[in-house]
Amino acid sequence: MRVKLLGTAAGGGFPQWNCGCALCARCRRGELPSRFQDSVAVSGNGRDWWLLNASPDIRVQLEATSALAAGPGPRDTPVRGVLLTDAEADHTLGLAVLRGGADLTVYAVPPVHEALSTALPLRGLLDRYAPWRWQDTDPLTTQGSTDRTAAASAPFTLSGGLTATLHPVGTKAPKYVAAPATDVPWASAVRIEDPATGGALLYAPCLATWPDGFDDLLASVTCALVDGTFFSAEELGQAVRSPDAGQSLMGHLPVSGPGGTLTGLARHPDLRRLYTHFNNTNPLLDPSSDAADEVRRAGVEVPEDGRELTV
Ligand code: MLT
Ligand code: MN
Ligand code: ZN
Repeated sequence: MRVKLLGTAAGGGFPQWNCGCALCARCRRGELPSRFQDSVAVSGNGRDWWLLNASPDIRVQLEATSALAAGPGPRDTPVRGVLLTDAEADHTLGLAVLRGGADLTVYAVPPVHEALSTALPLRGLLDRYAPWRWQDTDPLTTQGSTDRTAAASAPFTLSGGLTATLHPVGTKAPKYVAAPATDVPWASAVRIEDPATGGALLYAPCLATWPDGFDDLLASVTCALVDGTFFSAEELGQAVRSPDAGQSLMGHLPVSGPGGTLTGLARHPDLRRLYTHFNNTNPLLDPSSDAADEVRRAGVEVPEDGRELTV
């Protein structure tokens, strides 16, 4: 399977339009690579491509990736649809950019589609341009289980020869949802397998905790692309004096520290491991930082936009 990293920044991108921090300033001076907002494209055959999340930067991301260029017919595109890990603005506003695209399918868990019908009503709006298939993923029913947040989806097939499942990893709702249900799986990890090669990718850009079963999920894949939003728990509070800075961090487990994702990933040395969804405060954005050195020495990659992985 081919995996293209279309964007590796958290919401706002890097640099962020309203941020004058030292890292964003260095990025604007061309000293650090800029990054689009988090999105991935995967293909089993190089002709049918599926997006994992649709960032508001998607138009430029598609244009920057020759495999995803439109053609050969005047309205042909290799983009077949989108799998959503969550309903966050940075992962869903790109759907509006794709308006008018014929014959697309959007896969997500029911609460995400519900949010896209109500609090952020893209669904009805987009169907007026071209009707899409909004496909709720069915939970795999486990006998005796009553925990609505725990069930993985039943596997579903993507054109081009891939098999996908969504795995609940968190219950943090998007900020724009006024009174969110707290007991539903707002955040999922996507697992994509290529049955032809046995390669499997896990994409988990929103990890508020290291969820139960996540080690088993990592052990079931050959490559993992994991939430690297913040390097440290203090980082956002230090960068911006915002009353909800600490709260925002709660949606993303930091890389470093006891219980950070780097400790968890260290248990899986046989796996190709990469971080993504970097916030503009993250010292990993600077390859010469101590943070970047620590992550490299742990065998975990900090990829730039445009990186292609063969999984
Ligand atoms: C997140 O990753 O926590 C969200 O995208 C934050 C946001 O609303 O930008
Ligand atoms: Mn985000
Ligand atoms: Zn900044």
